[in-house]
Amino acid sequence: MSTGTPALREARWFDVPALADLDAELFPHDAWPESTWWAELAARPRREYVVLAGPRAVLGYGGLDHGGEVADVMTLAVAPSGRGRGWGRVLLDELERRARSRGAASVMLEVRADNAPALALYEHGGYAVVRTRSRYYQPGDVDALVLRTSLAEGAGRA
Ligand SMILES: CC(C)(COP(=O)(O)OP(=O)(O)OC[C@H]1O[C@@H](n2cnc3c(N)ncnc32)[C@H](O)[C@@H]1OP(=O)(O)O)[C@@H](O)C(=O)NCCC(=O)NCCS
Repeated sequence: MSTGTPALREARWFDVPALADLDAELFPHDAWPESTWWAELAARPRREYVVLAGPRAVLGYGGLDHGGEVADVMTLAVAPSGRGRGWGRVLLDELERRARSRGAASVMLEVRADNAPALALYEHGGYAVVRTRSRYYQPGDVDALVLRTSLAEGAGRA
């Protein structure tokens, strides 16, 4: 019986339409179409995706590229109706846990310099800017910030 509390689980093929719909809503300039989601979910074990599933809908999702010593966050998002309740943090913690369990020493990700909510999530989580890609996001000439955190014991959370 469903308790109504969102739960984390592996993303599955039947999530693809919901993932593509949410992605189109949240990343209007570079959303992944269903074909990309199919390819990403199939690219195991290199890629790993999780969803935060509510009783009726996908509330959030996140994914990793396992590249050995460094794992890269491919995507991370929470639906507007679920924001500000700690779910972004839950998803990021889960990705870090999965990266650590596969032997990664650090996690890297890329974020728009004008994305204040995401920057707050990452910076409070111990991520630091290691590089700026000037005017990477178009349209709009928005810089990309490359962030990194160490997964070593005692590192991380500010
Ligand atoms: C970024 C995002 C995932 C955050 O999800 P969320 O569930 O609202 O975040 P949480 O409630 O877990 O908050 C996590 C931290 O970020 C901070 N934060 C979240 N939204 C914020 C906002 N609008 N302004 C300032 N800080 C914010 C919180 O204060 C919290 O900090 P704390 O843990 O130190 O208290 C969500 O806004 C989102 O999906 N945005 C659109 C997609 C996106 O930009 N993804 C990131 C791509 S790199």
